[in-house]
Amino acid sequence: MSKQGEMGRITTSAIRDMKKRGEKIAMLTAYDYSMATIVDKAGVDIILVGDSLGMVILGYDSTLPVTMDDMLHHTKAVARAARHAMVIGDMPFMSYQASEKEALRNAGRFLKETDAQGVKLEGGSEVASIIKRITSAGIPVMAHLGLTPQSVHQFGGYKVQGRDAAVAARIIEDAKIVEEAGAFAVVLECVPAALARTITQSIAIPTIGIGAGVDCDGQVLVVNDMLGMYEKFTPKFVKKYVNLNHVMKDAIKAYVDEVRAGEFPNKEHFF
Ligand code: KIV
Repeated sequence: MSKQGEMGRITTSAIRDMKKRGEKIAMLTAYDYSMATIVDKAGVDIILVGDSLGMVILGYDSTLPVTMDDMLHHTKAVARAARHAMVIGDMPFMSYQASEKEALRNAGRFLKETDAQGVKLEGGSEVASIIKRITSAGIPVMAHLGLTPQSVHQFGGYKVQGRDAAVAARIIEDAKIVEEAGAFAVVLECVPAALARTITQSIAIPTIGIGAGVDCDGQVLVVNDMLGMYEKFTPKFVKKYVNLNHVMKDAIKAYVDEVRAGEFPNKEHFF
């Protein structure tokens, strides 16, 4: 059966069915039209326009300064490129925490203004009523547990979560709560693999892991990390499939050298 809905893109029910069939879900971030076109054509199931764009695109030290305007701008560009993949917009810090009403308004903007099919937000029991409110308006929500980067200052850094039994139990409970609240999937970031396995077996909605082991129903990475484009910091869970930094630097150096030597443009490149 096709994973695509009437509009051509993968749907939330298709994502849920993939878990039932034991089919792994491949998710990647993208932030602009050119990259999203490549990611989509390569067969990724879900494109997340992550608030990680604050770090890898905008050069901030954390995701905290990212605004709704930043997110809408980039989500529009990605949604224009996606033909096959589901597009999820990440709700930035303080766009959903203050009130259910504001959360719903902001979630709605992703669907109304950008052609995304759903939103992602961070947190467990503390955002359950917000997830309920947004999903009851017909907006699919992906939850995010474990290391939730918008709480970096509360965690005291980007650290693995759930190593001790009490925190692990709370994350398992939160996974059940976000499922009950209506989330269609949940990202598990930087939790021990055994904990991610337990959660994956305990809930019916798919788990998408990042630094959470191989037993999650799917995996997600930041595209700039896995392509070797972001030099500032590489988390342990990132596999660099290529080092585009080197490839791009070499290409740009070659251009600079040719311009300086008067070798570019040559006959075939001008009129
Ligand atoms: O912002 C982001 O890119 C994310 C993923 C890493 C899950 O939240």
